[in-house]
Amino acid sequence: MRFDDRKIILKDGRECTLCCTTPDYAEKMIDYLKLTAAETPFLLRNPDEVTYTVEGEREILGRMLECGSEFMMMALVDGKVAGNCSITSVGVRRRVSHRCSLAIALVKEFWGLGIGTAMMNYMAELAQKMGYEQIELGVIDGNERAKALYEKSGFVETGRYPNAMKYDDGTYRDEIIMWKKLE
Ligand SMILES: CC(C)(COP(=O)(O)OP(=O)(O)OC[C@H]1O[C@@H](n2cnc3c(N)ncnc32)[C@H](O)[C@@H]1OP(=O)(O)O)[C@@H](O)C(=O)NCCC(=O)NCCS
Repeated sequence: MRFDDRKIILKDGRECTLCCTTPDYAEKMIDYLKLTAAETPFLLRNPDEVTYTVEGEREILGRMLECGSEFMMMALVDGKVAGNCSITSVGVRRRVSHRCSLAIALVKEFWGLGIGTAMMNYMAELAQKMGYEQIELGVIDGNERAKALYEKSGFVETGRYPNAMKYDDGTYRDEIIMWKKLE
């Protein structure tokens, strides 16, 4: 889905643009996925599992842009991809079509500047306009920064999947399920 750009001023005074993640950014998005996967243990992918080709990524971003029920949003600072987030539908059947899922990840050098808060607000606004009634997400136990952001944005914890993540060293972490009603 396409939406209007939104400009915000970060805590360090720089300008940041929240905008559609377009196919032109395929190559930069692959670099971003590799970087964020390496910077935090709280995302689904290991860095070696980011195996998209530029052409494949371009296709995915093009499909997202034209899809009426989903969108991807990136944050650009000084021309760099500082972060990306998405709203995707839980399912197309009528009984679940009021539900959507949210995902967000920023490059570490851009944490703590207010980008997460601005993205959460804009995503909720757009999701509501699209007709969704609730947003759902999962956060890995121990990811205190993300959990604080979600609570600040109106999400509440509803349960957890034990041992949802298994790391290469054999350790596990639970996934906490959170939910926000759009109203
Ligand atoms: C989680 C993430 C999206 C947060 O984005 P951000 O831009 O850093 O967040 P913001 O600057 O908007 O602020 C988050 C809030 O959490 C609070 N916070 C920051 N660090 C915290 C910590 N270690 N513990 C508790 N709260 C913390 C801040 O006080 C802030 O609130 P405030 O602005 O009212 O002070 C970002 O850090 C990130 O991408 N992390 C890596 C990927 C990830 O974990 N994604 C989520 C997967 S579920």
